[in-house]
Amino acid sequence: MSQRSHIEVGGWAARHYDLMMDLLLVGRYQAFIERAIGRMDIRRGDAVLDLGSGTGRNICVMLKVLGPTGRIVGVDISQEMLKQAQQRCRAYPQVTFLNRRIEEPLPFHEEFDKAFISFTLHGFEDEDKERVIANAHRALKPGGMFWILDYNEFDLDRQWFPFRWAFRRFECELASEFLSLDLKRMLAGHGFGNFVTHPFLRGYVRLLGAEKLKEVLMSAKADRIKELEKQIEDLKSRWPAHSVPPTMLQQLEELEEELERELRKAEEDKTNAQADGSGGL
Ligand SMILES: C[S@@+](CC[C@H](N)C(=O)[O-])C[C@H]1O[C@@H](n2cnc3c(N)ncnc32)[C@H](O)[C@@H]1O
Repeated sequence: MSQRSHIEVGGWAARHYDLMMDLLLVGRYQAFIERAIGRMDIRRGDAVLDLGSGTGRNICVMLKVLGPTGRIVGVDISQEMLKQAQQRCRAYPQVTFLNRRIEEPLPFHEEFDKAFISFTLHGFEDEDKERVIANAHRALKPGGMFWILDYNEFDLDRQWFPFRWAFRRFECELASEFLSLDLKRMLAGHGFGNFVTHPFLRGYVRLLGAEKLKEVLMSAKADRIKELEKQIEDLKSRWPAHSVPPTMLQQLEELEEELERELRKAEEDKTNAQADGSGGL
């Protein structure tokens, strides 16, 4: 992990993680996560994937709604965090944990109703954020929701000086960069849409919900490619080659290539995920 990130929590910080969160929000952390998770529309019997599950505190909140027929899988890289989570959830057989990096391929394919990641995504470099998002997308059923609880978009330079100072002093470099990231755009590139936003803590934090769009999107892309091919052929047939406005033709061809690339990638992701299988816990 790069020095730019603080999200890999170990040692003393891992052992006292919950206490630190309670102190940070002066005893209101539990109420905050209950309110946020309460907006995730979790239903009895849902299957939930928690990426970077930490001490399992969020999982316990979800369990209250899920009931005995639901299932939760927590994935985390830290043994110290996982140990606390396993201890906390020991009475619940429907909760399992996986000690894996969430930016590396995960053995899940279209089996979860919800995927959740809290205060973790901001600590990845952009290319790894893309990998985490791709993992969430692959793991979700079509129509499933990816919920991201993390910093909202805001201009740090325009905040009150003590806040600005504390954020830069205690948070990592990547967290500051995350504040200006167009996360919805990144998510849309992976086939998510129908976004919903719930702001918390004076809007500094948000719960962002992104729906995994159904296959309709892929067939819409395929239709768009056919339409563009037709437009290009029309252009070429109506004008002699030398008089077709080169920029117009080039733009159309580039757009067509881009769509084709996306479509190929989506097909490849689907084939790889099917080849990965869905066992492995
Ligand atoms: C800031 S904590 C948040 C924990 C929990 N989501 C919460 O809100 O309480 C970040 C968590 O992500 C885990 N983590 C960091 N990098 C990871 C990675 N590459 N793969 C899996 N887990 C990771 C850490 O071990 C830690 O438990």
